[in-house]
Amino acid sequence: MRTQVAIIGAGPAGLLLGHLLRAEGIDCVIVERQAAAYVEARIRAGVLERTTTDLLHRLGIDARLNAEGLPHHGFALADGERQIRIDIAALTGSSVTVYGQTEVTRDLIAAAPERGLPIVWEASGVAIHDADSAAPFLTWGDGERLDCDFIAGCDGFHGPSRAAIPAGIGKTFEHAYPFGWLGILADVPPCDDELVYANHDHGFALASMRSPTRSRYYIQVPGDARLEDWPDDRLWDELAIRLGPAGQGIVRGPALDKSIAPLRSFVGEPMRHGRLFLAGDCAHVVPPTGAKGLNLAASDVAYLSEALAGHYARADESGLHDYSRRALARVWKAERFSWQLTKLMHRFPGDGAFERRMQLAELDYIAGSTAAQTAIAENYVGLPL
Ligand code: FAD
Ligand code: DHB
Repeated sequence: MRTQVAIIGAGPAGLLLGHLLRAEGIDCVIVERQAAAYVEARIRAGVLERTTTDLLHRLGIDARLNAEGLPHHGFALADGERQIRIDIAALTGSSVTVYGQTEVTRDLIAAAPERGLPIVWEASGVAIHDADSAAPFLTWGDGERLDCDFIAGCDGFHGPSRAAIPAGIGKTFEHAYPFGWLGILADVPPCDDELVYANHDHGFALASMRSPTRSRYYIQVPGDARLEDWPDDRLWDELAIRLGPAGQGIVRGPALDKSIAPLRSFVGEPMRHGRLFLAGDCAHVVPPTGAKGLNLAASDVAYLSEALAGHYARADESGLHDYSRRALARVWKAERFSWQLTKLMHRFPGDGAFERRMQLAELDYIAGSTAAQTAIAENYVGLPL
């Protein structure tokens, strides 16, 4: 088999890139390790920046997004007692959309056949060959082979693409946090109209949603926490405490999904090796606090699709040369915002009364400063491409 661009991974990065390339008339094939049902059921992101929804509008894969996406004009930071509303619409003129990653991937997968975007599901043992030659190719399964001009590594943090960059060529930067997020999804109305990020003495909590009848909540748990230690009742009790005033509006219900995700900051540089280009979580990971992961995957592939379109339409190589630098400039700013918000909103083991007072003083400063609120708001809605 031969194509122009071989894409590894059918997460948000790979699916969006595939559609953006097809819209430019570029041939590509996505090779994914899992089955479609598994990818569609993976519950993760919930908040989309305008840059991300603009891509879906541009592609015309937006019927359900338009009908079911929830525009959010603000969110709250809470310190256990009071809530500080960040009016992102008034401060930036922009807004975000609450629309689940599950829905984004479902829409992109459903639109693939009609747009000539082939996806190979359940491809085991995908391997990258000759990435730094003029004739790279992938192999997988029982002797399958895909020859291509370029490979796009969109295979998430644990995929093979990043490892295909030889040690010594790249640099990695990593910060691990000594806690995770325990998330619960339930078919109950959200406790508040907007998202609430709370820093309570017990630790962080987030009230989010997927629809007016489906809630998504998270709490900070120790790095070694086990799901079996968190029966639903214990989790609802803890959310009610940590969310402060907003917690009074919680409606409890059985968990549709409950999982623990570790928190990590990671960047691999450069995001290119020869004809292999990395995009999304395989190149960088942010802690989820700033809601930036999926949105960074989207901005990476916006840059990469533009660069590949320049190559194929005009033999213009400048976009490909500049891809890693351009993407990393946005990535590092999102890394900074996610790290800073994580530090502000979580309890860190070993922190004492002084560090707690520093957090409360910063929240108090934010409450009284339009400049501080604007800085948060413009990062939250997403920096320009
Ligand atoms: P992935 O989604 O990881 O997709 C990679 C794909 O590659 C997968 O389908 C995988 O099966 C496939 N793959 C892996 N290995 C191979 C292989 N060997 N061969 C073939 N295929 C392979 N982001 C936001 O923007 N907003 C949020 O609100 C938000 N909330 C989050 C909440 C939680 C709890 C978590 C865990 C994450 C959150 N994120 C959020 C982050 C977001 O989910 C990720 O950044 C996003 O999924 C990255 O997309 P991706 O396509 O790069 O990688
Ligand atoms: C959700 C996840 C986040 O990381 C975030 O910052 C906001 C919302 C969510 O899953 O709804």
